[in-house]
Amino acid sequence: MNINDRRLLEDLHTLREFTDTPGEGVTRFSYGVQDRKAREYIIKEAMDAGCTVRTDDIGNIRIGLGANIPGQPVILCGSHIDTVRNGGWLDGIYGVCSALEVLRTLAAAGSAAAPPDSSSAAALPDTAATEQAAGCGYEMIIFAEEEGSNFGSTMTGSKFITGIYGEAQLDELTNDDGQTLRQVLAGFAAADPDAAAPGSALQVPWDLSDAAAMLELHIEQGPVLERADLPIGIVDSIFGMRVIEVSLQGVGNHAGATPMKERYDALSTAAECILAAEKIVSSDPEERTVVTIGKLEVQPNCSNVIPETVRFSLEVRDKDAEEIDGNMDRIIHQIRQIAGGRGVKCEIREHSKSAPLHLSDEIIAVIRQAAEDAGIPHKVMDSGAVHDACMIAQAGVPTGMIFVPSIGGRSHVPEENTEEADLVRGARLLLEVVCRLMGGAQA
Ligand code: GLV
Ligand code: MN
Ligand code: MN
Repeated sequence: MNINDRRLLEDLHTLREFTDTPGEGVTRFSYGVQDRKAREYIIKEAMDAGCTVRTDDIGNIRIGLGANIPGQPVILCGSHIDTVRNGGWLDGIYGVCSALEVLRTLAAAGSAAAPPDSSSAAALPDTAATEQAAGCGYEMIIFAEEEGSNFGSTMTGSKFITGIYGEAQLDELTNDDGQTLRQVLAGFAAADPDAAAPGSALQVPWDLSDAAAMLELHIEQGPVLERADLPIGIVDSIFGMRVIEVSLQGVGNHAGATPMKERYDALSTAAECILAAEKIVSSDPEERTVVTIGKLEVQPNCSNVIPETVRFSLEVRDKDAEEIDGNMDRIIHQIRQIAGGRGVKCEIREHSKSAPLHLSDEIIAVIRQAAEDAGIPHKVMDSGAVHDACMIAQAGVPTGMIFVPSIGGRSHVPEENTEEADLVRGARLLLEVVCRLMGGAQA
């Protein structure tokens, strides 16, 4: 028995249509209309398979196979369904649909044989382990607001699950319309209370004491696997990140009548700061640290007015916390120097952060063994992207991640793609690893 390859791909293609920007990539922010449609679709599929569904106060969803028995160890498996603006069709949702496919397969194994496979592309044979061991449960998770598209803070849902975020962030996190997370959540629940809470309410943080392991299957989002011509990556460390928000206050004035020497231009100042940050980080001999200024707002944003205020985000990532802080501290110092030298006021606010994390060596070993037994070439590698799995790992749950290649190493863009055979192979390997962790028979 194995997963139904065709059903997995059909789910992915169906969910690809749940976008605010048809023809221009997938835009599906948490708590929006498309997010609700995606939730409803997945919940219906899970309920059809006889599962129990619970949604917590932040919108994270936990879908259980069978009854929840207190004290029974459970394997958690999932990812997120939200996207960046004009993002790709696989980031997050691939891990969710694969977790759903594993759930359906396990549910079917409990009663009847699974439907026959449609694909010959996957490397794992149909003889893979599938027997569900008594005494170990399986739950899929859909994490809310992973991308931070609303509130600028990545992994928001999983930060609430693990208690890193709490009451304070409900009021501190605001979207571009100035709405707090608390207000957005209230609006989401009020719009359709039944859909928002399909099962019994599950408060945050969660009790993870029964979680025996957490697995997340994801596209790589970078070029490593494709360049090495390898179909599977097994994640070793996930980069940490620190995000600041820089506000520059210059003096607005007439673009034609103000001499160059008498200007306090917030945008020119920002430009110099951004290039300085790039220079600082590019001096890393290992070429590992990265800095990104992805969001910038200019006021009044008129071609014939000297920009008075600029606000931009700046994030630094690395797998070494000291490198993150060292680079960020140098950048902050340099920004203050540049702004001061130009007579522009500067305010810097720490926005959010997450620590670098090494995933569980035991889970890595299980994934490696499963890949080796199936004859799948693979590589243990780092993840420059962050994932909800790191929050769950930080809470003490043994955690592992599986990557499949990204074509051209592209992600967070409409061009994001992965070969179907790779998608199927990854999901099959996920099922195999879940079964091994549940204590089922091995391939
Ligand atoms: C999430 O995709 C991130 O790494 O920012
Ligand atoms: Mn993702
Ligand atoms: Mn992403």
